[in-house]
Amino acid sequence: MSVGAIVLAAGLGTRMRSKQPKVLHRLAGRTMLGWVLTALQEGGVDRIVAVVGHGADEVAATLPAGVEVAVQEERLGTGHATGIGLAALDPACTTVVVACGDTPLLDGSTIAALLAAHADGRAATMVTAVLGDGGMYGRVIRDAEGGVARVVEARDADEGELAVTEVNAGLYAFARAPLADALGRVGRDNAQGEMYLPDALPLLGGPVGALPSSPEVILGVNNRVDLAACEDILQARLRARLMEEGVTLTDPATVYVDADATVEADVVLLPGTHLLGATHVCEDAVVGPNTVLRDSVVGAGSRVVQSHLDGAVVGAGCSVGPFAYLRPRAELADGSRVGTFVEVKNTRLGEGAKIPHLSYVGDAEVGAGSNIGAGNITANYDGFRKHRTVIGERVRTGSDCVFVAPVSVGDDAMTGAGSIITDDVPAGALGIARARQSNIDGFTRKATERAAAEAAQEGAR
Ligand code: UD1
Ligand code: MG
Repeated sequence: MSVGAIVLAAGLGTRMRSKQPKVLHRLAGRTMLGWVLTALQEGGVDRIVAVVGHGADEVAATLPAGVEVAVQEERLGTGHATGIGLAALDPACTTVVVACGDTPLLDGSTIAALLAAHADGRAATMVTAVLGDGGMYGRVIRDAEGGVARVVEARDADEGELAVTEVNAGLYAFARAPLADALGRVGRDNAQGEMYLPDALPLLGGPVGALPSSPEVILGVNNRVDLAACEDILQARLRARLMEEGVTLTDPATVYVDADATVEADVVLLPGTHLLGATHVCEDAVVGPNTVLRDSVVGAGSRVVQSHLDGAVVGAGCSVGPFAYLRPRAELADGSRVGTFVEVKNTRLGEGAKIPHLSYVGDAEVGAGSNIGAGNITANYDGFRKHRTVIGERVRTGSDCVFVAPVSVGDDAMTGAGSIITDDVPAGALGIARARQSNIDGFTRKATERAAAEAAQEGAR
């Protein structure tokens, strides 16, 4: 027996007021639908069919390999969507989990608990939660024996039913054959004129069990207020996980973590740190305050202060910032340093090399042990194409130099301050390219005397 899952993700999500399909809105860097799929996979589901409709191609393009797609052309309700998903689901799946694509707080343990509770041969098991106010959720109406009799949608409920605090999470496990049969008999006589999946429950011909769960797990996103509320809960979960794994967060509420970011033990994350995308921070590093790392790696023991990194790789024992901007393919070897107001792009910085102040270094190589003076620029773009600057090892460049690429500076060379380097500098040489200074003796005194004489003449007129 294998377990299949159908994820309902065809709705328009009108209440989001968005160009984007609802299930593609992101929380902690992952789409709403992505969270549901991850929970199903972690919870032990073998096959998954996603039912898509609104923005079908866009949604289908985000699905991971192995997730099948069924298209619901006309949105006739959750029961109709389930039927379409069921037709596409491998017949070997005799247990069918149905989940909604707009419940991003679902986790693997809730799915596993649902499957365990369902294992005793019922027609269906549904997840419920008790809320202070049931809002727009469907209300669970129990029978005299405490089983589930039916679910009534808030729009169709009378006053007594609305007062029920146990609500439908929109997450169910069904025995396949009775589900297929019942879906064929669900009508559309309700406030929305839709085929409601919960209306299949009383038609299954067998007992329906309920698995009570916490409201934190079942929260559905129907508008941007819900989206923010779910993001808040996910962030709290992600931060707690990091702390359990040995990471210090000095002010957790200000740290923002994407689902795929990973951090080793004994890292310290200072206030205002954002770990986005596939970022990885190695042990003993200290990051922040006010630092954004996107798809970047920070090596062991490195220090990144008040900086923005995007697609950068920082080695061990490095120092970055304050106010550094490391762009894609900036690679800092161990012990190197990028300092204040420095932008680095597509550049490899050798071991122990330094770019301490006010520089732009792009499309370049800087060899081990070299020091780039304050205010240096690699002029990498001639208006048509990008060119490389190659700086050797142990090079010392003067302040305010421009390297007009393509150009190279050999090992152990130096450049004079204020030089525009247009020609290669050989190893060990001093490259200097600027006008010579001339001094005019006694200039200030003569200029003062001339000004005083002119003022006296004007006064006499
Ligand atoms: C649904 C349940 C409600 C439950 C709540 C939990 C129904 C009728 N009601 O209400 O009992 O408390 O979820 O969150 O099932 N969808 C389709 N095709 C359709 C219609 C919907 O794929 O034709 C998808 C939507 O994209 C969404 C999911 O099904 O992901 C649920 O639909 P939604 O309209 O949000 O239902 P709720 O009103 O939240
Ligand atoms: Mg919903």
